[in-house]
Amino acid sequence: MKKAILVAGATGNLGNRICRELIKRDAAVNAIVRISTDPEKIDSLKKMGVTVIETDLNSIDEIAKACAGIHCVVSALAGLGDVIVDLQKIILDGALQASVPRFIPSDFCTDYNDLVPGENRNFDLRRQFKHYLDSTSIKASSVFNGAFADILKYNTPVLNLKDKSIGYWGEKADWKLDFTTMDDTAAFTAEVALDESAPRDLQIASFQVSPNSLWADVKEVSGQEFRIQQLSGLEEFAGFIKKQRSDNPAGENELYAKWQQAQYMYSMFTTHHKQLENERYENLKWTTSLDYIRSFVK
Ligand SMILES: NC(=O)c1ccc[n+]([C@@H]2O[C@H](COP(=O)([O-])OP(=O)(O)OC[C@H]3O[C@@H](n4cnc5c(N)ncnc54)[C@H](OP(=O)(O)O)[C@@H]3O)[C@@H](O)[C@H]2O)c1
Repeated sequence: MKKAILVAGATGNLGNRICRELIKRDAAVNAIVRISTDPEKIDSLKKMGVTVIETDLNSIDEIAKACAGIHCVVSALAGLGDVIVDLQKIILDGALQASVPRFIPSDFCTDYNDLVPGENRNFDLRRQFKHYLDSTSIKASSVFNGAFADILKYNTPVLNLKDKSIGYWGEKADWKLDFTTMDDTAAFTAEVALDESAPRDLQIASFQVSPNSLWADVKEVSGQEFRIQQLSGLEEFAGFIKKQRSDNPAGENELYAKWQQAQYMYSMFTTHHKQLENERYENLKWTTSLDYIRSFVK
């Protein structure tokens, strides 16, 4: 019998890819979407073979109905407290009511378990939901993928193609940063959703690169020698982010406020994945740093 997986956030960038990977693996995929969801996004899911259930996501009973016979709920929702804490709680309560055995929360970030609460607002929201999730009887698994590799394309201080520079904080020129492509994250998450013995926390990375090794990879691909520089000490960076945050109260309502982006960078330079589960599923192929850099650096 096919395993039945319910995806929340299936219309999103990652959620859509997770659905595709689940279907490739012959799962029966259902998606719960809010009534206001863009019909084009719903159509594209249906074409893929996903059963789309448009429902009231504020109703635990409605979610429970959608969860009947489901083996695992995967959440790829994105948002602030109203989504990551409140909405995920409702979905979890619906799953519990329907006796769903497993739940994958929308973590999809650096493993925040060893980080200090208060340093990264979006990680704090995940921690808050995790606290509730782990108090229930459902078996949870979190996928920790570090940063999506896409951010390497966005001219951040870590890699800026416009001014041909690579930057780092502290004495961290050789510190390994975790990057995973969205496709690799989706394929791994689909495997986890179908794997009843998956552990609580799974750290992955398509590739781990330090600022120095990134410099070498960019040189190998493009022949160019980017400027590599220390941007500031880590303590100074933390102080700068605090000030940026207090100067921009409107950012509290933005998912990726400037200071939030800086908090992500800070986290990448203060923790990294030491116990990769990349080899857990034999059929997965991981994107290498050189392959990824080749896809956008000329
Ligand atoms: N590690 C990284 O570098 C990194 C980078 C980006 C994202 N992420 C994480 O990856 C996960 C997925 O992100 P994404 O970029 O794929 O998100 P996305 O493309 O913005 O999709 C968000 C999904 O959540 C749904 N959603 C949002 N607010 C909702 C609400 N109030 N009620 C119901 N549904 C709602 C959206 O539904 P509609 O279609 O109805 O709007 C959509 O399906 C999140 O945990 C995000 O934080 C990680």
